[in-house]
This record gives sequence, C-alpha cells and structure tokens, in this order.
Amino acid sequence: MDGTTEVSLELDDIQAGALYERPSPYVGTYLLLSIRDRADGRDLVRRLHRLVDAAGSGGSVAGTSLTVAFTYHGLAALGVPQESLDSFAPEFREGMAARAQILGDTGESSPHHWEQPLGSSDVHVAIAALSADEAGLAEVAEKARRAHAELPGIELVWRQDCYQLPTGRTSFGFKDGIGQPAVEGSGRPPTDPHERPLKAGEIILGYPDETGELPAMPTPDVLGRNGTYVVFRKLHTRVAAYRSYLRARAANRKEEELLGAKMVGRWQSGAPLAVAPDDDDPALGGDPNRNNDFTFGDDPRGFKCPVGAHARRANPRDALDQDGSVNVRLHRMIRRGTSYGPMLPEGVLEDDGIDRGIMFVFAGAHLKRQFEFVKTQWLNDGIFIGAPDESDPLVGPRDEPGTFTVPQRPIRRRLQDLPPFVVTRGGEYCFAPSLSALRWLADLDT
Ligand code: HEM
Repeated sequence: MDGTTEVSLELDDIQAGALYERPSPYVGTYLLLSIRDRADGRDLVRRLHRLVDAAGSGGSVAGTSLTVAFTYHGLAALGVPQESLDSFAPEFREGMAARAQILGDTGESSPHHWEQPLGSSDVHVAIAALSADEAGLAEVAEKARRAHAELPGIELVWRQDCYQLPTGRTSFGFKDGIGQPAVEGSGRPPTDPHERPLKAGEIILGYPDETGELPAMPTPDVLGRNGTYVVFRKLHTRVAAYRSYLRARAANRKEEELLGAKMVGRWQSGAPLAVAPDDDDPALGGDPNRNNDFTFGDDPRGFKCPVGAHARRANPRDALDQDGSVNVRLHRMIRRGTSYGPMLPEGVLEDDGIDRGIMFVFAGAHLKRQFEFVKTQWLNDGIFIGAPDESDPLVGPRDEPGTFTVPQRPIRRRLQDLPPFVVTRGGEYCFAPSLSALRWLADLDT
C-alpha cells in the first residue's frame, strides 16, 4: 500500500473508544471484574457485546458509551486456548505489575503499594462506562451492573469514578487531552496540521502500520483483528506539593505560572509555549483549530519550550525527526486520560489528604514501542535530550530528588530537589477486542 492510499477501517467491528474522542465534559466509571466461573464469564461477554458501541455507529461523542477490555488472566479465565494466549504481545502476557522496574514503578509507586487487586491475577475484565451527563452515566452503568450482577460467577473487584471538567483541566490545573494523533480511516481530521494521520495499524491491529508491515497480531485472526491494546494507570497527583514547590521558587505569581508551564510545555489554558512563550493566551489554549498547530524545530535548545518539558518529551514532534535517528511517528499513542477525586481548591498549598489524580489511558497496537518506549526512554530518562540525570519534571519517577533545566538567556535556570509529584496507585495492560472477537470469546467451547 503506498503512502497516499487511505486504508478502509472496519469501523462496524471496532470498539469506538480508541478511535473517537470522548464527549466533553463527561462523567464515567471504571469497573474491574473477576471471572470465578468460566460459563458465567462467557455469558458476561455475550451481554457486554450487546452494550459496546462500534466506531461505525457514529462514535460516542454525543452520548453514552461502554468499552470493554481483558487482561491476560481474563482471557485465560474465559478459556482462550494456550496457543492463542501465547500469541499476544509479551508485555501484555506479563502484565503491568511485572514490568514495574522497567516502567519506573519503584519505591512508593511499586506494586507492593498498589491498590488491591490492581496488578494481581484477580483482575480479568475492565469496563469503562462514560456519558456526557450523570443521568446518561446512571443508565449505562446500570446496564453494565446488570450484565455482571446477575451472574454469580462474576465478582466486581474494583471501581473508580472519574470525570472531565468542562475546562478539560486536570488536577495540576492544566488542560489535558489536546495532543493526539489522527488515524487514517477513522474519519477524524488531524488537529496538528504538521502531522500526517498515522497508519491505522499503529492503533488498530490487522492493518499495515508505519513500518509498512502488519503488526504482530494475536491469533486466531478473529480474536486479534480490529482489536487494540489498552493501558490504564491510576496516577495519584501531589497537587499541594507541586504548588508549594513552584511558590517557593518563583518571585511572583507570573513566574510561578511560567515555571509550571515550562514543566508541561503548555500554559494551564492549553496554550503551547512553542507559540506563546512569554504569556498565557487562553483564547489560543481553548481553540482546537490552533492549540495543536506548532513544531519545535525552530527552538532546538528549548528557549521557548524546554526540551525536558512533559509534552515535548512525550511528543518531540519535528525536533527529533530532524536528525533522522528517531522516527517519532513510531512512538505516538491515543490517550483517553481523565480525572478522579475532587480538585484541590485554587490557591490551597496544604495537602488535604484526599486522593486525586489522573486515570491515564493509552490505546495503541504496540505496547512496547509506544507506551513503554515513551514512558521509559522519553519520560523517565533524559539521554535523548542530552540530560541523562533528568526525568520528566512533572510525571517522572523520583526515588531521588530530581532536577529540571529551563534554558534561558543569559544563563539557564536549574530547578533542584524536585520531589515526586505523581505516584502510581496501580494499573493493567489490557486488550480491547473487536465486536466479532467478543462474539468468538462468548462462544468458546473449550
Ligand atoms: C499524572 C500524570 C500525567 C499528567 C498530569 C499529564 C499531563 C499532561 C498534560 C497537561 C499534557 C499537555 C496537554 C496535551 O497535549 O494534551 C500532556 C500531554 C501528553 N502526555 Fe501526559 N500526563 C501524565 C502522564 C503521562 C504518561 C504516563 C504518558 C505516556 C506514557 C503521557 C503522554 C503524553 C502525551 C503523548 C502527550 C501529548 C504530547 C503532544 O502530542 O503534544 N502523559 N500530559
């Protein structure tokens, strides 16, 4: 297939969640279920199959939606044959907890401290129920509840409510969910005019990816095709510590906001530093036609947006592509992050002890070269930006206090003693199958 041919995605068979953005604002619930009885497990899948939305149904932008995914242990509990289980990506088979050292989930973030049963073999099915409003959520959540509560062999083992504010801002105060790649064949146009839509196989299994090859896909074909890997992580955010850190290092409010923006690569409004380096521009931040329209190539040293800023690390755009050594397109991902817990009221610098943060969600065809690569090579490590000792100032793991360099003239500024602002509370690697794969799973007779 040449680069100009647009692939035709089987939208009626693909769950809507990976391809289509969520309504904004929205409320949602994540449910984790454990399958104690195989027949009930298959019955559950049959019921959920009737509830999930296909991308071809127009997506979930206006209304409610339900997405379902399985862990490795979940597929095993349903009786998926071993040969087929062995055909899944090795990282998925190991599970997130087993990858903790690699991912930087150490110290306070280590699986020993995770919320139970996250990271254990008891987590089998993950359901995300979402709606634009509480009434819609109650309706879809009730359908999901009935699907499992009537089956004695299915146990609800974890639940997390979440939401997106009308401003799109999350607990540290920044608008999130802006930088996303477009996917060929999804019908959704790019928000970054400098980035061609990704080959469909970067996100959905069964289609050529950016290498021109078909990505390794679980077998049989009906199970793998039109599916996608999903990662979710519950990330506790230390908002009071973050605010106090900036307050102590800034001469005034303006500088405080600037240092915060330097860490993220965007102002709290979402306005990119690459376009608005000196002052926030809320109109720019809120304009979906402009807030993702920028490159870093004219700012190689990071005077406008530090090379170590979170969003620049996570998507270096043309800054890395220029020397040809790294193809940034191989490390893109769909994110469906969301907030949990109440926001810390504006101006409060004392920790109130309430758990709040982000339910980080990734969707993509390659756990290793997308999610794990970005997390380990770009967020946790600074080698690629020539600062091996520095990790992401906002989300980097920090067993030792960290540093963050803000390039500026005449001399750079170096922020010292960064404490950990984010602690992993748990997570899982999942697989969101196609609608036909859900039917196949429900009809297993092993
Ligand atoms: C609590 C943890 C996190 C917070 C508070 C956070 C916050 C943010 C914010 C404020 C942005 C800028 C807005 C936007 O472009 O959407 C952003 C962008 C991004 N983040 Fe995170 N993030 C977190 C964790 C992660 C993790 C774990 C990853 C990946 C492994 C990640 C990957 C990305 C990517 C790919 C972008 C988009 C960059 C772009 O395309 O410009 N983030 N994040």
